[in-house]
Amino acid sequence: MSDVSMLDPAERASRDEIVALQTSRLAETLRHTYAKVAHFRSRCEALGVHPNDFRSIEDLAKFPFTTKTDLRDTYPFELFAVPMEQVVRIHASSGTTGKPIVVGYTREDLEVWSEVAARSLRAAGARPGMKLHNAYGYGLFTGGLGIHYGGERLGMTVIPISGGMTERQVQLIVDFKPDVITVTPSYMLAILDEFIRQGIDPRGTSLKVGVFGAEPWTNEMRAEIERSFDMQAVDIYGLSEIIGPGVAQECVETKDGPHIWEDHFLPEIIDPDTGAVLPDGEAGELVFTSLTKRALPMVRYRTRDRSRLLPGTARPGMRRIEKVVGRTDDMLILRGVNLFPTQIESVLLAHPWTSGHFQLVLTREGRMDEMTVRVEARPDAWDGTGLGDEAQRVVHQIKNTIGVSVRLVVEPPGTLERSVGKIKRVVDNRPR
Ligand code: DLL
Repeated sequence: MSDVSMLDPAERASRDEIVALQTSRLAETLRHTYAKVAHFRSRCEALGVHPNDFRSIEDLAKFPFTTKTDLRDTYPFELFAVPMEQVVRIHASSGTTGKPIVVGYTREDLEVWSEVAARSLRAAGARPGMKLHNAYGYGLFTGGLGIHYGGERLGMTVIPISGGMTERQVQLIVDFKPDVITVTPSYMLAILDEFIRQGIDPRGTSLKVGVFGAEPWTNEMRAEIERSFDMQAVDIYGLSEIIGPGVAQECVETKDGPHIWEDHFLPEIIDPDTGAVLPDGEAGELVFTSLTKRALPMVRYRTRDRSRLLPGTARPGMRRIEKVVGRTDDMLILRGVNLFPTQIESVLLAHPWTSGHFQLVLTREGRMDEMTVRVEARPDAWDGTGLGDEAQRVVHQIKNTIGVSVRLVVEPPGTLERSVGKIKRVVDNRPR
């Protein structure tokens, strides 16, 4: 699929070359952050560590982590490492509680972001001259503008539709004939519903590739989208604190988890309880250090995302992450069993009658927590009654694979609220 000559030099570099580049960029990032960010400097002082102590990548483990709390405590701009005149763009993510997380970019930072976003789109199978239907939200969210600049950088024709107005999404896909769509996987399902409602065959569109991310999604969801639209579905990963979309991207020829663009972002996996660095291959919390960002350099940022580091395949010099199953914040503990909503998604979508639209409702009865899985049947499978036997099979399978009993309510098609961006899977109705 990929013609090597069109890759960026870093994508063709050997592992040793990448590590050498990371080492020099990391030394510079530590110096820059220490010199310009008082908060980071005082953390280093408290640990008795100085950028001069850095010799090789292993030394990074001596430096302090940065957490979401650090960003909130320094709201809005205190972690910025350049004077405000050099900050040309601000983004923010709302978060679930409290103050938003604010991030800033210099002109050079925007160049880097465009480069990694363009690289991501190309790895997904996009090419110069193709049309890109960009349905990630524009605004403070990094999805819309991040992908937009990447598409332009690659030489695509970008259609900046943003999220929402689902009827219009379908109309423009039909009329403008884009090759590539970028959108959250949950909103792609809402677009699918709209195709069906309008009586248009989604398999007949011009779309060849979808680049899906900003929320966890499973390989079962991939199969569902690929089948429904007759297209390739690949995973894009990123977070505002590190740059936005384009930190890591799955290559369409292997579809084996996102490759991290390690010339700009250095990953670690840690034990979330002890903070100890874990060897490649072990599951834990993903931590990133930015290697080239100037306005908001990030040292050892704890993402709270669960994954593992795997060796590179389609880009042998860069490691991959295993598809992110969810954030530690999204992990539910139900009667002592830890579970991610994506585990429920995998079970549900293995059954041909489920639509992929589902919600998990938590309640407390007496002293027991209960979970109700609300799932919509597909329009062609809905029998008006709740699919008794089929539903029981799913309940058993959840019990067998995840180890916990749940209630299942099969809902008529169109019952559950659709999101236009990131979906909220869990409704927690337990008393505080
Ligand atoms: O969601 C950036 C983005 C936009 C990525 C568009 C991909 C596409 P935030 O709003 O800061 O930034 O949220 C970042 O979303 O820490 C993960 O928990 C989750 N996330 C992002 N991509 C994926 C993915 C954008 N491919 C947070 N799989 C991250 C699973 C993802 N989770």
